[in-house]
Amino acid sequence: MKKREFLKLIFGGLASFVVPIQTKQLKASVAPPFVSLCNIAIAHEYGAIVQYINHSGLISERRIKKLLDSNMRDEIVHARRITEILVKEGATPTISIWPPQTGRSLKRLIEEDIEGENAAIKLYTQILDLPESKRYRDEIYSFLKREELHRSRLVEILSAFKNGKA
Ligand SMILES: [Fe+2]
Ligand SMILES: [Fe+2]
Repeated sequence: MKKREFLKLIFGGLASFVVPIQTKQLKASVAPPFVSLCNIAIAHEYGAIVQYINHSGLISERRIKKLLDSNMRDEIVHARRITEILVKEGATPTISIWPPQTGRSLKRLIEEDIEGENAAIKLYTQILDLPESKRYRDEIYSFLKREELHRSRLVEILSAFKNGKA
């Protein structure tokens, strides 16, 4: 299932906050944007956790494995904290998992991880723009900074690989 179809399935029209889809109409029964985006963030974190486990198992270079494991531990913290925030807000946290991606080459795996980090950065930036995120601003901002750090370390690995140094 493609990411877009998956989002449409679990979050309906609100997926347009992340991925533009044809209809922009929101149904009256749909949760507020803060709750919907936090649930997308949780699903995304779960997908990233599974993806990092898979990729660190497929990759044999110790330094890269260590980095992916460290990223994965951060994503666990993020997923659990956003879950706690939704409970505090009286909402139901999702247990849906964004479809993890895999591949056969180191380059492809790292590219997928960078794509995941880009999506996480986009999501947390959108959440921070919502007035409801004010109460959790420092925490969510720190998540955004971690995602940016994950991305920059992965980009370093990818460029080292392209230059034949990884
Ligand atoms: Fe994360
Ligand atoms: Fe991340």
